[in-house]
Amino acid sequence: MSDTIHHPSFGALAPDRVIMFDTTLRDGEQSPGFSMNLAEKLRMAEALEDLGIDVMEAGFPIASQGDFESVREIAKVIQGAVICGLARCADADILRAAEAVRPAKRSRIHVFISTSPLHMRVKLQMEPDAVLARIVHCVTLARQHAEDVEWSAEDGSRTEPDFLCRAVEAAIKAGATTINIPDTVGYAVPEEYGAIFTMLRERVPGAEKVIFSTHCHNDLGLAVANTAAAIRAGARQVECTINGIGERAGNAALEEIAMVLRTRPNSLPFKTGITTTNILRTSKLLAGITGFDVQPNKAIVGRNAFAHESGIHQDGVLKDASTYEIMTPESVGWTKNALVLGKHSGRHAFRDRLKQLGYAELGDNALNDAFRRFKDLADKKKVVYDEDIVALVDDEVVRGHDTIRFVSLEVWAGSKGPQRAVLELDVDGEIHRAEAVGDGPVDATFKAIRAIHPHEAELKLFSVGAVTEGTDAQAKVTVRLEEAGKTVDGQGADTDTMVASCKAYLHALNKLVVKRLKTAPAAMSA
Ligand code: KIV
Ligand code: ZN
Repeated sequence: MSDTIHHPSFGALAPDRVIMFDTTLRDGEQSPGFSMNLAEKLRMAEALEDLGIDVMEAGFPIASQGDFESVREIAKVIQGAVICGLARCADADILRAAEAVRPAKRSRIHVFISTSPLHMRVKLQMEPDAVLARIVHCVTLARQHAEDVEWSAEDGSRTEPDFLCRAVEAAIKAGATTINIPDTVGYAVPEEYGAIFTMLRERVPGAEKVIFSTHCHNDLGLAVANTAAAIRAGARQVECTINGIGERAGNAALEEIAMVLRTRPNSLPFKTGITTTNILRTSKLLAGITGFDVQPNKAIVGRNAFAHESGIHQDGVLKDASTYEIMTPESVGWTKNALVLGKHSGRHAFRDRLKQLGYAELGDNALNDAFRRFKDLADKKKVVYDEDIVALVDDEVVRGHDTIRFVSLEVWAGSKGPQRAVLELDVDGEIHRAEAVGDGPVDATFKAIRAIHPHEAELKLFSVGAVTEGTDAQAKVTVRLEEAGKTVDGQGADTDTMVASCKAYLHALNKLVVKRLKTAPAAMSA
């Protein structure tokens, strides 16, 4: 085990402490369909802070004005984590990242460049020596703006060992305090990935002064296993995302790593600062914001993760839960009684519940609005569950920052036809009305949206589910739109399926509006 390391942001780090670096708002957000607006990012950032992460990669400031502003806002608000901005090995990127993270109490600049033969030749079109020189230049520049500088060897797991040692040595000499070795394309297997860290720690001069970091993609489903192997081999920072979201098959899932370390201390004797009981609510918050639910069998946070279907298992669990449960559902935030509030519940109880669900900072207007809608819902539904409240707040309050907002909808449905929709939307504060006839009420509604806000996006997916159980459950609709190669998913919930469909479409459309403002910089990857 390595000795205590003195780190500019964390001071003396115990040898068994693993730094949790969350990149949900950067690597996660950059994957198709997952973009978030500023308000959504701030809510996620607060939830991540409550979860106890150590470093928050808040975005890629050079990518767009929106990315820059969200990193800067997060840097102003979040006190409990180091705020990190990503930068390519280029002066403009580094200066932009430095400016974005400057308001933070503790800040980090994260600089990356590819080191594998393939990436250097094809993507960068640079000779290895030029890459080494660029590393020295960029880490030195970053250090002029931050004490805490991370350097990443993009495609590190496919880099030639000797060259990787030289690159890491150059970065350390130039002042990097964290060295990250990404498995950018999810190609590594555990023994091999762990061996890279062992090699670097043995061979590179100065290795004992820095924190080594993992960053694993899940293309072969090995991201968490590779991360665990690297921790065993001396890595003390783990880069990960909530629900494992991220490019392609995603990144290593934070909740899985945190629970591996907590559940198997005999095999992996390391600690994190994660408050594991907040895991589920953070996962649900992200799913609500992005419109992507996790699959039912997802470890830790899937709805079947603690469900026992077979009679033999149920019998065992009733006798002693540890027969089939290796951790308790409560330890990650599942509660036995999901029923929370009814129509007689007061504003105070409602506010408390919202706080527990991760909506700590709703202003008075938003709270009043949410409370009024909760009362409406409680009139229609016998029981109101956590999921109902999350759906309601996501739909009606937080999306209040959207430029296109739902006002009202009337539909004529049924077998006789023609099916017709009359829709009112608030676009940038102005009410617009449209009427459309369609092949069914959903088609008519979507045509009315297009009449108010003309756009080229194609509808790629439309699916209807239920937020909870029962015939009075809210419908939860997912809509996927694609425009100019960009895909977004939107979700909407309502006791009326047509209204939920309309809201889901608008959620996706608003995301496209945000996406249109973003132009990814060249050679930005993984
Ligand atoms: O996967 C990767 O290589 C990355 C780097 C930018 C750290 O995300
Ligand atoms: Zn990545």
